[in-house]
Amino acid sequence: MQQTLVLLKPDAVQRGLMGEIISRLERRGLKIVAMKMIWMDEALAKRHYAIHEGKPFFAGLVDFITSSPIIAAVIEGENAVEMVRRTMGETDPAIANPGTIRADFALDIGRNLIHGSDSEENAVKEIELFFSKKEIFDYSRDIDKCLTGS
Ligand code: RTP
Ligand code: MG
Repeated sequence: MQQTLVLLKPDAVQRGLMGEIISRLERRGLKIVAMKMIWMDEALAKRHYAIHEGKPFFAGLVDFITSSPIIAAVIEGENAVEMVRRTMGETDPAIANPGTIRADFALDIGRNLIHGSDSEENAVKEIELFFSKKEIFDYSRDIDKCLTGS
């Protein structure tokens, strides 16, 4: 089953939106298999966002993501990477579709509340960066039968 990394960024923690955001993912039926509060240091932030090194927003992004504790989680399910990305909405809340997390709760591209891995390959790498194997749980839920019909 596919897994993806979700981070609730400092703005989600500071604005008291952790529950709201997690609730939207949960209500959709997505399964949380790992979750913790951490405070990213500069080294972890630079590794996580290495692909953006050299871009004009990189320094600000690292400063922001290390400015407060965050929530890190692993979400598991069929097509989890895309399911989470579509629930989050576009990177820029200004053009995100209403009904998505970023459109409903954010205004600014630099304060868009949530990170989700953008591919299965990156998800595998990102999950390894944030979680040890024993922090990720393998469990079943009765509701999964109701959610998929199979
Ligand atoms: P994320 O990695 O945080 O889930 O966001 P994303 O995939 O939707 O967007 P990405 O292109 O990976 O960019 C990472 C974060 O950098 C900030 N950003 N600012 N000012 C800008 O033009 C700009 N572009 C990107 C955003 O906060 C974005 O989430
Ligand atoms: Mg990204």
